[in-house]
Amino acid sequence: MKVDLTTTICGIKFRNPIVLAAGVVGTTGQLLIRVAKNGAGGVTTKSISLEPRKGHPNPTALVLEHGVINAMGLPNSGAKMMVREIRTAKKLLPRGVPVIASVVADSVGEFGDVAEAISKAQPDFIEANISCPNVEYEFGKPFAADPTNASRVTQEIKRRTKIPLIVKLSPNVENIRTIAVAVEKAGADAVSAINTLGPGMVVDLESGEPILANKVGGISGPAIRPIAIRCVYDIAKVVRIPVIGIGGVSNGLDAAEMIMAGASAVGVGTAVLYRGLSVFEKITKEFKDFMKSHKYQRIEQFRGLAYAD
Ligand code: DHB
Repeated sequence: MKVDLTTTICGIKFRNPIVLAAGVVGTTGQLLIRVAKNGAGGVTTKSISLEPRKGHPNPTALVLEHGVINAMGLPNSGAKMMVREIRTAKKLLPRGVPVIASVVADSVGEFGDVAEAISKAQPDFIEANISCPNVEYEFGKPFAADPTNASRVTQEIKRRTKIPLIVKLSPNVENIRTIAVAVEKAGADAVSAINTLGPGMVVDLESGEPILANKVGGISGPAIRPIAIRCVYDIAKVVRIPVIGIGGVSNGLDAAEMIMAGASAVGVGTAVLYRGLSVFEKITKEFKDFMKSHKYQRIEQFRGLAYAD
């Protein structure tokens, strides 16, 4: 049976729905290309700020029983350098592998500045990271925690660039539907969910001190997948824009579950840390096998089944 793995978001075609999520390895153009060579259907950069950032001191991450806790502190080489990296990626990536530029800032205006700056590289999408849980002392409450703030960032980026905008939402809210509806109204072209859960904390039993230098960090990996599935389900039910489902996906069946919950594409982050870049080929193959065994020829045939009447 012939299986069509493509998915289209805002008129832009992905050769398959398995996309590198922000934050993991998307630091250079060459790395984005390598991820694509390993089978990804789309690639997201690490979050880019207007100016370069060193990030938090070590330790910044710990592997837990069923996931990872991290507080990197948004280290990145800044918009100017990343424009070059994205240009490199765009030149060499095959058709059907869009580039998503993740951007982050600590004010509405600066979100506009960094989005405008990165637009020079013509990424296929901009993703606004309004949901990082690790810089609260520095940035204040994440913009994703409040519908008005989330909308203001969305409107500002839409005003400053024509590149399709994905807004990345936080699970750490009382009602993610309210935030999703607000950013859709404010002009978001798509949403992605979820960013890391938390923040959480791990204490060292000898010293009695939190292990992460930042004390708290966001939780990712398999343990948060059911929360991600519920968030995607809740969002997809109430918005018309596409949803990119992210959170704890590490095999093809997890990815299929995300599609059934209503996602149009599926982000993979922490699994890359566990399994390496070859995880993209593995997940894509397992996803395709699932489609074949269930006689699905296209993704639309099972997308959103979980909330269909
Ligand atoms: C960081 C940023 C995030 O958006 C996240 O979910 C986890 C960590 C960081 O760089 O600290």
